[in-house]
Amino acid sequence: MITTVVYEDVREAAACVRRGGVCAFPTETVFGLAVDAYDRRATARLFEAKGRPSDNPLIVHLADKAAWHTVARAMTTSAERLLDAFSPGPITVVLPKLGRIADAVTGGLDTVGVRIPANVRAREFLAHIDRPVAAPSANLSGKPSCTTWQAVLEDMDGRIDGILVGEPSSIGLESTVVDCTGDEPILLRRGSVSLEQLREVVPNMQVLSTSQTGAETSVNSPGLRHPHYRPEARVVLVSAIENGERVDLESVVGEPLAAKIVFLGMHRPSELSGFGYCQVFGTVDGFAAGFYEALRQADRENAACIVIESVQDASVGAALHDRQCRAAGLR
Ligand code: TXA
Ligand code: MG
Repeated sequence: MITTVVYEDVREAAACVRRGGVCAFPTETVFGLAVDAYDRRATARLFEAKGRPSDNPLIVHLADKAAWHTVARAMTTSAERLLDAFSPGPITVVLPKLGRIADAVTGGLDTVGVRIPANVRAREFLAHIDRPVAAPSANLSGKPSCTTWQAVLEDMDGRIDGILVGEPSSIGLESTVVDCTGDEPILLRRGSVSLEQLREVVPNMQVLSTSQTGAETSVNSPGLRHPHYRPEARVVLVSAIENGERVDLESVVGEPLAAKIVFLGMHRPSELSGFGYCQVFGTVDGFAAGFYEALRQADRENAACIVIESVQDASVGAALHDRQCRAAGLR
């Protein structure tokens, strides 16, 4: 067991990383778990703390785009355009890796994901560290990501050296990841920067299809092969409903309704008696921002099943729908 220090002061949290520590920090997408990307030992401790499979590469975070050459061998045209348009912000571009970045950081790949967060506290933290920072989402591997520092403490207390406190993440879903190493950029993971927005900047953007074979997926984005965002409770997806519509819970859940059921969606079903409770979000953005915390809250309340109303929407809804499907084990 390690003692996990809760830091209010950005400089103290940065010093923790500079001396080889593992320290959580807030970003606008989800909280991250920071280590010095040049430090092999710290990187190994990070994988251990998260219980993360070693073939799942980490994103390297920078305070400033100008520092890209400290992590990558080359800047490609598509990456440059995407960073100019959406960075600092919720986008990660995959570039050819610089040798100095530990192989363990990138799961042995010759490429590296690079992101410059927009969150002010995150940027101060990165600026004080003054080195590239490898950081996955700050949850135990396989669990929903953390959008509050308290959620990080639940998963990571005694496993990491520190947590920098900060406001809850405003977006609530991980960054959009784009492979920019080839002739045509490929969208690897959906995020709040939508495919439509990406194509306005880079029209030849391709999409890594979820129906592609395991072998292809593993080459492009190893992280997508592992289970993700899974709460303890069973998750069932239902299609979109109208306000006041009756949802036949017994057939949806497939078991007698004595157990506690939580409904998460954008509309209120009529039949609330069988639910433990029902959480209705007013907007897709609000649903995205509150989604992981809602999954975690259902677990805190020992819900047996979480019924989720599917969201289908062109923008952030597409990313939210992807996470809903993964939480339900459908991808
Ligand atoms: O918003 C985010 O991206 C958050 C915050 C903390 O920045 N980070 C995050 O990290 O979500 P993580 O480790 O949970 O997810 C990283 C994703 C995985 O799907 C991984 O496969 C992909 O990025 N990735 C990272 N480096 C890659 C690379 N070199 N090639 C392909 N995919 C890569
Ligand atoms: Mg993650």
